[in-house]
Amino acid sequence: MASGEMSEEQFFQFNNDWIREALLYLGDGGVFGTFIDWRGLQSVTAAAAEAGLSQLNLIVWSKTNAGMGSLYRSQHELLPLFKKGEAAYKNNISLGQKGRWRSNVWTYPGASSAGSDAQKGLKHHPTVKPVAMLEEAIKDLTDRGDIVLDPFLGSGSTLLAAERTGRICRGVEIDPLYIEVIIKRYEQLTGKAAVLEKTGETFAEVSKRRAAQP
Ligand SMILES: C[S@@+](CC[C@H](N)C(=O)[O-])C[C@H]1O[C@@H](n2cnc3c(N)ncnc32)[C@H](O)[C@@H]1O
Repeated sequence: MASGEMSEEQFFQFNNDWIREALLYLGDGGVFGTFIDWRGLQSVTAAAAEAGLSQLNLIVWSKTNAGMGSLYRSQHELLPLFKKGEAAYKNNISLGQKGRWRSNVWTYPGASSAGSDAQKGLKHHPTVKPVAMLEEAIKDLTDRGDIVLDPFLGSGSTLLAAERTGRICRGVEIDPLYIEVIIKRYEQLTGKAAVLEKTGETFAEVSKRRAAQP
């Protein structure tokens, strides 16, 4: 999340609130992370520490092109990673023993790179993440069938990455326009119809019914 128009105190409180809510659904040894730009890092790190998390690492998403920024144009996003509790976290890298060689710098195109995943996604959402980058992160830290929670689903990149890696995504998104984007991207990727659990209707049926309502 960007700090936007919030004061520093408000942004810290916001981080504190949502991190505590999210942690209710994370098991002992579960890994928690959030993408943030350099300005918000301190607030997120302080809120995570206050919620009792221990920091595991700091990932840098190094973009192949720079975006906007004052003094220096911004070419990275940060992903602090934390662990809940005392149990060991799931580690599918183990210094290459499992065939995965990974560092804490992830190089993927950002939204200012022509033709990139993130740039194509810009028409859907201003801060879309490359699905391939999230797929690798999910493979590092979870197994097939595990649940991945994204409480700020945005354009649904986490859902797509979870789907492609055989994980189960649970997501929350507040903006109905983005929910539509998420459902359309999901249907396009899977070829399946999204179903509204409460009524059993497909997304197409719900859209038709709601469009006909006054
Ligand atoms: C930084 S974006 C996430 C982008 C996402 N990672 C992607 O790749 O598309 C944050 C999203 O959180 C949503 N959001 C903001 N406040 C929220 C809230 N209280 N509950 C759920 N979603 C919220 C916004 O609408 C926005 O789409």
